Formats: sequence, C-alpha cells, structure tokens
Amino acid sequence: MKHLLSAGDLTRDDATQILDTAEEMLSIAKRPIKKLPTLRGLTVVNLFFEDSTRTRISFEAAAKRLSADVINFSAKGSSASKGEGLKDTALTLEAMGADAVVVRHHASGAPHRLAEAGWTQGVVVNAGDGTHEHPTQALLDAFTMRRHLGDLEGRRVTIVGDVLHSRVARSNALLLHTLGAKVTLVAPPTLLPVGVEQWPVDTSYDLDTALEGADAVMMLRVQRERMNASFFPSAREYSRRYGLDAARMGRLADHAVVMHPGPMNRGMEISADVADSDRSVIVEQVTNGVAVRMAVLYLLLSGRQDHTEETHS
Ligand code: NCD
Repeated sequence: MKHLLSAGDLTRDDATQILDTAEEMLSIAKRPIKKLPTLRGLTVVNLFFEDSTRTRISFEAAAKRLSADVINFSAKGSSASKGEGLKDTALTLEAMGADAVVVRHHASGAPHRLAEAGWTQGVVVNAGDGTHEHPTQALLDAFTMRRHLGDLEGRRVTIVGDVLHSRVARSNALLLHTLGAKVTLVAPPTLLPVGVEQWPVDTSYDLDTALEGADAVMMLRVQRERMNASFFPSAREYSRRYGLDAARMGRLADHAVVMHPGPMNRGMEISADVADSDRSVIVEQVTNGVAVRMAVLYLLLSGRQDHTEETHS
C-alpha cells in the first residue's frame, strides 16, 4: 500500500498488520525514552487546512518518536488564507522534500486528489477529509477495542449520533466490517446520510435497544459547525433520545466499553459522569492514537528510507 486514504482500502491482513505493529509502538511509548531512530532523515509534513489540535499533535508526536523531521503547516495565518490552494501548497512542500504528507482538509476527497494528481512524491495519509473519512481514527478505535475485547470478529459495536457529518463513523463502519465486527448506527433520521443502506451496517433510531448486547458504544460529537439547518428540535431533546448518561450506560453489558473520538460536547451526546467513568476508554483512545499513527508512518515510510539510503550512498 502506498498511501492511507480510506479505511475501506485496507484488507483484513493490512489492518491486522497495522494493529500488531501499533502494539509494539505502544510498548515503546511506555519506556522512559520514547524514541526510535527508524525514520531518521525523513520529513513528515502535517498539512492542516482545517482546525485540529488533537489529531495534529498526535501525528506530530508519532513522527517525532520515530525520529522523522516534522513540518507543521496549518492553513490559519498561511498563504491558504491568501487563496493559495491545495495544489500550490503541495507543490511548495514537495519542493522542500516531503516524504509523507499528512493532510486534513475541509473538502471530501482532497487527500485522494493530492495522491493521484502527482503533486507530491510523498506518501499521503488522510487525517480527515470533509465528512468523508478519517482512517487513522478508525484504526485507533479498532486498536482500543481489540485491547479490551480481543479479536473483533463477531463483536457488536454501536455508533451513535451525528453520522451524517462524521468521517469517523464512515471509516469505522468500513474497517469494523473488514475486521468481522457487526456495526449498528443509531441516529435521528435527519442525521443519517443518504445511501446509508449501502454501508455494511444496521441502523436504528432507538438507542436503548441498540445498547443491549453491544460490546462497545461509540458516541459521536454533534458537529454544530457543519449544520446550517435544524437537524433536531433542541439540544435537550437530542440528549434525552440520543445522549449517553449513567442510566442508559446501565443497559450495557459489564465488559462493554464507552468511546468518543473527541472533542466531546459534555452534557450533549455524553454526560460528564459517563465520560469520566471507568468504562470510558476515551483517554486511552488518545494514547493509542499516537501508537497507531507511528505504525502507519512506519509501515508506509520504512521502505522508502531504504530507497533513500541507497540513492544517497
Ligand atoms: C474527529 C474529526 O475531526 O473528525 N475528531 C478528531 O479527529 N479529533 C471527530 C470530531 O470532530 O467530532
């Protein structure tokens, strides 16, 4: 695999290899010196056209722990706000010698365009494109679930909330299906995307029923910044029907875990006590994110380094 653009491009073997490699990376993250020389001499560019702190610092930490040089390009205060588009920005970064471009963009499909148009020789990693996909988030979610539940074959995962605007939901649905898990999406009808019947999932409008028998429940952020119409009557009504509070959490089996990709709207899709409860693995998801991104960068770039060394020697 040359790039990581969509969770749907991963075979079960690819995904398993990434998750297994991430286990090794996680053990490194627990050492006092969290650094490997593996990607020394390579440059990773974080190209962020959309606000993000969590994902950018996660990729930055991952690249640095593998000893790559990291350039952070954020669209705010840059030429992007002066109208420079993806192409010119990419060509500029290419001229500076990017081996990997980690891209987040408000337009769905931007990372594919970057990879396919030949604007960069580097590997392209999709760090979230519009409402389309966020494959490393799905990988870190699968990794977190696997650590708690073991093999995901036959496991039941309930994904709840603003599926319409969520690249996390789509990437998770695709990857979890590949890994043999059964996914149920729960949302008000207005927050399910057109064409969801073609996704490899079941859908439901009733959270209480969908929690019974779930091994993991993933709450999605209500993405108000992407909403220009009223998708539900009120925040209170949304929480009442689709929010996870302590009473609802009581319907989950004892072993089941509660997840959220962050950032959370506490009190909206998830109550504060649930977010902070022992069943919540939300903070672990963040830690695991670094290990999974290390694995992705390592697997995509290590071959390239051999090549670079050969051409330089
Ligand atoms: C997610 C995203 O950006 O898609 N967050 C993230 O990667 N940290 C989910 C979200 O914004 O709700």
